[in-house]
Amino acid sequence: MREFIIAGNWKMNKDLSEVRSFISEVADGLKTKDMKGITAIVAPAFPFLGVSYEGLSDSPLKLSAQDVSMHEKGAFTGEVSALMLESISMPYCIIGHSERRSYHAEDDALIREKLLALASVGITPILCIGESLEERDSGDTEDVIISQLEGCLKDVNIYSDKDLVIAYEPVWAIGTGRTASGEQAQEVHALIRRWLEERYSAELSKKISIIYGGSMKPENIEGLISKPDIDGGLIGGASLEAASFLKMIDSAIKIRNG
Ligand code: PGA
Repeated sequence: MREFIIAGNWKMNKDLSEVRSFISEVADGLKTKDMKGITAIVAPAFPFLGVSYEGLSDSPLKLSAQDVSMHEKGAFTGEVSALMLESISMPYCIIGHSERRSYHAEDDALIREKLLALASVGITPILCIGESLEERDSGDTEDVIISQLEGCLKDVNIYSDKDLVIAYEPVWAIGTGRTASGEQAQEVHALIRRWLEERYSAELSKKISIIYGGSMKPENIEGLISKPDIDGGLIGGASLEAASFLKMIDSAIKIRNG
């Protein structure tokens, strides 16, 4: 069975004390939950990865970085390398988020380099793809998704679910309060899975978690993750409160247990 992933993308939010109290509240809340088949992840900003890691102790909560440099090391002021993340045992890293694509002009070729940098140290990339409103309205969603997949995964070998998580995040749904319906998201997730099957294999396509992102919250999560190809969520705004994050984990447990 595929892993369900509930991942909080905190973006540029929370200071040290807020990070500490979230981590301890969620680690506490998870103690009594049956997390079989479910991976809960939070992605704090770079300065707080270390302190978050220390706060986890034996909690099943996992961490993700929000970005990584394509470079291995050297004179790249402000950048953080995959090797640095690996040295603090980071299991996941988000790449290709639409905010990086639009505010930092990241394209598929660059995102592919980041993916390879992560692969070289065994960190699982959470690769974000998604169409803009204009692209959806002009009927180009399918072409955009396929071209992002082809660009980011060009000549990239994927052997197991540890090598890739895909986050389908329609840009028009991110931070807007406008969510894709379960049907709209399922359609794109099924397309991604078919692409994985053709590009890699049927076996692999069944193992890769494809999560949805874009104004997901406790009120709408079940309508999305109950769809056959939606394996969880990458959640921004609604992941900032521990209670809301824990509620979404409860929804994942409920759906997982049928
Ligand atoms: P949102 O953000 O849940 O606030 O829409 C999701 C994301 O950007 O990953």
